[in-house]
Amino acid sequence: MTVYLVGAGPGDPGLLTLRGAELLRSADVVLYDRLVTSDVLRLVRNEALCIDVGKQPGTDSGAADHRQDDIGRLLVEHGRTAAIVVRLKGGDPFVFGRGGEEIEILERAGIAWEIVPGVTSALGVPGAAGIPATHRGLASSVTIVTGQTRHAGESSGCRHDPDWAALARTGGTLVILMGMASRAAIAAALIAAGRCPDTPVAVIQNGTTPAQRTVRTTLAGLAEVDLGPPAVIVVGPVAGLGLRARGSEGPGV
Ligand SMILES: C[S@@+](CC[C@H](N)C(=O)[O-])C[C@H]1O[C@@H](n2cnc3c(N)ncnc32)[C@H](O)[C@@H]1O
Repeated sequence: MTVYLVGAGPGDPGLLTLRGAELLRSADVVLYDRLVTSDVLRLVRNEALCIDVGKQPGTDSGAADHRQDDIGRLLVEHGRTAAIVVRLKGGDPFVFGRGGEEIEILERAGIAWEIVPGVTSALGVPGAAGIPATHRGLASSVTIVTGQTRHAGESSGCRHDPDWAALARTGGTLVILMGMASRAAIAAALIAAGRCPDTPVAVIQNGTTPAQRTVRTTLAGLAEVDLGPPAVIVVGPVAGLGLRARGSEGPGV
């Protein structure tokens, strides 16, 4: 009896690992997140028990923690009785996926577990849109950061909030997940910390799926971008590169 934390990748089922696909085809129980696409779930056997444990975007942290407790309980319950349990998470389980917390719960319960990494949306989504995370002469570092912070424009005193001033100073590529609700505050904080308002920015919504949309703008224009989640925000010169992505209608689309 083993619980497998499987990364489903950013959306396109072709980006799921071979190991992940093999486990989905043989799983007895699958607990899946909101961002896992129906194309990926199609691999699950009809006889398997499939449980949607997704959290709604914008859920407050109290409700999200409550839901996370329920997920922990389900993992332990099924991990004790089913031969193959797959905990299927969007992207990679260890990138803003609370995968570490779930492993700690399984460890405490004495249940065997295995991690099957996935293609994280932080790199796979910009990549599929033709935006490299690093590029010789343009960006020598990339930082993946959560935009889910209530205080992007000020020091919140919360040690878990990103330090936007420090991030602005790195000069490298910033990839912001869960940042659409705070995009105006994030842009203002980065500009206030010295990042040029003309810095190229790309916002990619529903990356690697047929609904993928990319908007190119600048830090000064980020607040005006009218795309909802799920979206990845890329800040830095790489976002201005005109590489033509497969399936796009032209450079910069
Ligand atoms: C809770 S985080 C989970 C990240 C995930 N573990 C990963 O490695 O991609 C969810 C955020 O990932 C980003 N995301 C996930 N899939 C995406 C997609 N197909 N297109 C754009 N953004 C995506 C969005 O920023 C979304 O708000």
